[in-house]
Amino acid sequence: MTVLTILQYPNPRLRTKALPVVAVDAVITGLIADMFETMIEAKGIGLAATQIDVHQRIIVMDLSDDNSEPRVFINPEIEVLDETTQLYDEGCLSIPGFYETVERPSKVMISALDREGAPFKEEASGLLAICIQHEIDHLEGKLFVDYLSPLKRQIIRKKMKKK
Ligand code: NI
Repeated sequence: MTVLTILQYPNPRLRTKALPVVAVDAVITGLIADMFETMIEAKGIGLAATQIDVHQRIIVMDLSDDNSEPRVFINPEIEVLDETTQLYDEGCLSIPGFYETVERPSKVMISALDREGAPFKEEASGLLAICIQHEIDHLEGKLFVDYLSPLKRQIIRKKMKKK
């Protein structure tokens, strides 16, 4: 397994729209293993393939404290289940050190393929709902700073460029 480089905002490659995975083969399985290692090394809870400059629709996630609950979402889709929203101070491995409040739907239905390529559905609320929406945004070339005011986004962009 390999720890991969995570693209940092405002790298324009983070704006690439990812394409669907056609077949869950050994290449994809190896990539998923590398993505987990990269996410754990960076102490993150979620990572989209876009962030490691691979533009395929793959997300890895582990919301546990001890990396004991690895989750894989290939070609994920979500459907918003009701109109309630929740606020959360989001961070991102591509924008390290910055946390800002984002409002998102609180209940969604996730449809995706698992790491074996088998389809599954899962109803998500709380942190899982937030995280899957944040990661799917990455696959669309979208970042959590896009939800902030232009001024706030500019400040973060300038500070990130100085790094
Ligand atoms: Ni992120």
